[in-house]
Amino acid sequence: MEFDLENAAAGVAYKLLIGLVAPRPIALITSMDEHGQLNAAPFSAYNYFSVDPPIVGIGVTNRSEPKHEPKDTARNIRRTGEFVVNVVTEDIADKMNICATDFPAEMNEVELAGFTTIPSTRVRVPRLAEAHAALECREHATIEVGRGRIILGRVVAAYVEDRFVDPKGPYILAEELHAIGRMNGLGNYVRTRDAFIQIPRIPLADWKKNRDDGNA
Ligand SMILES: Cc1cc2nc3c(=O)[nH]c(=O)nc-3n(C[C@H](O)[C@H](O)[C@H](O)COP(=O)(O)O)c2cc1C
Repeated sequence: MEFDLENAAAGVAYKLLIGLVAPRPIALITSMDEHGQLNAAPFSAYNYFSVDPPIVGIGVTNRSEPKHEPKDTARNIRRTGEFVVNVVTEDIADKMNICATDFPAEMNEVELAGFTTIPSTRVRVPRLAEAHAALECREHATIEVGRGRIILGRVVAAYVEDRFVDPKGPYILAEELHAIGRMNGLGNYVRTRDAFIQIPRIPLADWKKNRDDGNA
């Protein structure tokens, strides 16, 4: 099937993109409004885009009804310039999902989901104590795009529980961390537990030798 996305409804593009750009990591973002009210919500339009400087990006669409207002996360980051990406792992998946419920701004998803918080080191917004890793971010730029925005955050500090780091790299022990990814909506996620496959990079000399040996 082919889809003309220049002339299709946004819902069509959404369904295709979330199914085809998958699996996606999930950023459970904590942010605060100007009065210090804490908010948490998951975002899977999320990745890192630069390491020098370290930059992550999140796509935050507006609420659909009734007035297409910005979500609390986008509004908070615009007003206070800070946020924390809490890495979503299997053990906090159900709590993460409660944070996606559209509670009014005055209700605290963090408490309702059963999360507790710990102060961050470089930003005022706390991280979630139950998350095994977190990225402390300052707003680098926000690009308004149609009925939403792409928020770029500069990562100013990273926290990882000791048992998930090999300090020699430092490498993240991803096989132990059990991060989950979001798939095509419809409540579908993937586990990363026991799911790793190894595909080592091939140096050019090895590739040429393989070819010359008749293996490529
Ligand atoms: C796993 C998951 C991923 C999500 N990813 C996004 C996303 O990338 N962009 C977005 O705008 N909403 C996304 N949502 C929906 C928001 O989490 C939801 O609208 C939330 O209520 C926003 O909360 P807030 O108003 O407190 O910011 C996602 C929901 C789930 C469960």
